[in-house]
Amino acid sequence: MFIVLLGPPGAGKGTQAEIISQKLSIPHISSGDLFRENLKNDTELGKQARAFMDSGKLVPDEITISMVADRLSRKDCKLGALLDGFPRTPFQASELDKILKADGNSINCVPYIMVSDRDLLERLTGRWTCKAAGHIYHEKFNPSKNSGICDIDGSPLYQRDDDKKETIEKRLAVFHEQTSPLVEYYREKNLLVEVDGTQPIEKVSEALLKTVRAFE
Ligand code: AP5
Ligand code: MG
Repeated sequence: MFIVLLGPPGAGKGTQAEIISQKLSIPHISSGDLFRENLKNDTELGKQARAFMDSGKLVPDEITISMVADRLSRKDCKLGALLDGFPRTPFQASELDKILKADGNSINCVPYIMVSDRDLLERLTGRWTCKAAGHIYHEKFNPSKNSGICDIDGSPLYQRDDDKKETIEKRLAVFHEQTSPLVEYYREKNLLVEVDGTQPIEKVSEALLKTVRAFE
């Protein structure tokens, strides 16, 4: 199954992808995580992406699309993948269709996790992420058992550079301008399913699993 998780910054794409990819036994591919891995390792790609990410803008297509295409070409994606944060523009979406089609595949469904901008700001300013593997916490909604330490691998938690108020506002504006047209793009293809992202994490997971299983 090829699933695209759509939703604004902070909607819970990463949180849900971690849970659902395990249940469906398909890899979780997050374009943001791939970029952050490159930043951490100080690669050429990371250097090119940094300024865009720090200012909340989209990284240019020629960098982003080839990075995701390369990840999708690996063996573990032959039977499916859960995409989080990609595509983010109609152009990226049509390129993804071509990449999948070249292997005889296509997108099965696109859950759209819906949360209001006001809630998103609170979620992002209170988010803590694990350094080693990107496990996601929230100081109020999903705290780690020991403050500042990941429950799963014991690594320290940090706050993302792009989770400052001004950068969050820019990211939300970019979502509304450049990514929200994908809602109609996928609705027209009968792939879009709206999911209420304001429910507790476990309820959102249940709704998402029910949704994707209906498309299996
Ligand atoms: P990316 O890493 O994709 O960030 P994003 O889309 O802004 O989304 P986030 O990761 O911030 O939020 P999320 O939806 O994953 O929420 P999470 O689960 O963490 O992209 C970062 C940057 O990389 C972009 O700005 C851009 O520069 C670049 N980039 C990436 N992809 C690109 C592309 N395709 N093209 C061009 N550039 C690209 O949850 C958020 C918080 O809420 C957490 O604290 C969590 O614990 C909490 N939470 C989750 N669910 C709930 C719930 N149900 N109730 C209460 N709290 C909850
Ligand atoms: Mg994320």
